[in-house]
Amino acid sequence: MPTAIVTGATGITGRAVVDALIKAPEYTEIYTLSRSQKSSEHPKVKHATLDLQSSAEEMSKALSHIPPVTHIYFCAYLADPDEGEAARINGSMLSNFLDALIKSGQTRELKHFSLTCGLKQYGVHQGQPKNPMREDDEDSLFWLEQKDRPPNFYYTQQRILEKYTAEHHNKWTWVVTYPQDVIGFAKANFMNLATSLGLYCAVSKELEGSKLIFPGNKDNYLAFNGWTSARLHANFCLWAGKTPKANNQRFNVINGDTQSWQDLWPRMAARFGCTIPEKMFPSGDEFKAYPGYESSHTKLHDRPPVAEVADKIGLKDEFKKPSELFCQIDLEKWAKRPEVIQAWERLRDRHNLDQAAWDGATWNFLGFLLGRNYSCVASMSKARKLGWTGYADTWDEFEHTFKELEDAKMLPLVQA
Ligand SMILES: NC(=O)c1ccc[n+]([C@@H]2O[C@H](COP(=O)([O-])OP(=O)(O)OC[C@H]3O[C@@H](n4cnc5c(N)ncnc54)[C@H](OP(=O)(O)O)[C@@H]3O)[C@@H](O)[C@H]2O)c1
Repeated sequence: MPTAIVTGATGITGRAVVDALIKAPEYTEIYTLSRSQKSSEHPKVKHATLDLQSSAEEMSKALSHIPPVTHIYFCAYLADPDEGEAARINGSMLSNFLDALIKSGQTRELKHFSLTCGLKQYGVHQGQPKNPMREDDEDSLFWLEQKDRPPNFYYTQQRILEKYTAEHHNKWTWVVTYPQDVIGFAKANFMNLATSLGLYCAVSKELEGSKLIFPGNKDNYLAFNGWTSARLHANFCLWAGKTPKANNQRFNVINGDTQSWQDLWPRMAARFGCTIPEKMFPSGDEFKAYPGYESSHTKLHDRPPVAEVADKIGLKDEFKKPSELFCQIDLEKWAKRPEVIQAWERLRDRHNLDQAAWDGATWNFLGFLLGRNYSCVASMSKARKLGWTGYADTWDEFEHTFKELEDAKMLPLVQA
């Protein structure tokens, strides 16, 4: 019978993996690891406090209380604004953990190691990618390691995992996943789309006029994009862990529907009881703030990732300008406006909400997702050809997560 360890078990992807393992009857025991919060109370789950930044010696002592497992789902993550530092931190969390597993004899029964990465593999944070992104894209797009590009912690982690696997004679198999912007539940994590967006909508409803203004830009509003349900991603990880054809491979994991903010935003407005402005972008295409608000504008990397293949796709010299991040409402500044804070406090007090939800909102991350001026779409063909049939409707996943956030008193209850 398979048994599992989940690292980052309280995070947005890890928590969903734990839930999927609980529902999978074949898994008898699940060991969850993180530094602070407790994980699930389910009888199949045992939580241990473990700091992946501690030494391999210390970790191996903590792991020695856990019987050898067959599957490991690595979903831990520590953010750092410096990409070199993020690579060092997240790389050493993984390598120290692998050392600790080996020292404590944990690899004795190990059959499969799943590593969660993301679409930053294709440099979506540096600018416009080549769409759709495919796992068999040529190296200049898939491993963006040209001299002027920043380090990427996913590259560091994947190389570590492959090296350890080879050094242990491929005793276990691995799979690396690349989810897109994740829709799921977590408290106080680093990148939380649904919590931040739900708070923006709930507070917008509470503000005078109840207008739901799209804080990002028109290009993004009209673009097609993908999203990843945390639940779907978790099911994918379990599927890959038992599908021999998927062994030692990397996969995009997105919902599989065709979606855009122009479709989702009016549905957000209706759900939260807001109206949308008739003219969502009154300043046209220029970099101007929505009237009465402050905007934010950032240039991304000098060369968007797609520039690496510009001549090969017949678009030589087309991508000489950096991609841009433009929000007609700067969300970090919005969240500090007195009327916004007062609206949140009224909601909090009326609905007995958790102040930590507001304090932990990731406005910067939400601004990035709404403010980029290019679309990001990843292909699911590789997994589908191997038999993956999973699919999620992006709107349904938002609805599901908003309900979870309401139950956890992180969002006010709205009448459906
Ligand atoms: N969130 C997204 O929208 C998104 C999108 C695409 C890709 N991804 C990728 O998915 C992967 C997982 O990220 P996530 O968003 O699921 O992370 P997350 O929600 O921020 O959660 C991070 C998890 O790691 C644990 N952790 C952090 N530092 C630790 C340490 N020193 N020792 C032990 N545990 C530690 C945290 O628990 P404690 O703090 O309690 O220790 C938490 O459980 C990352 O590679 C991320 O880039 C995320």
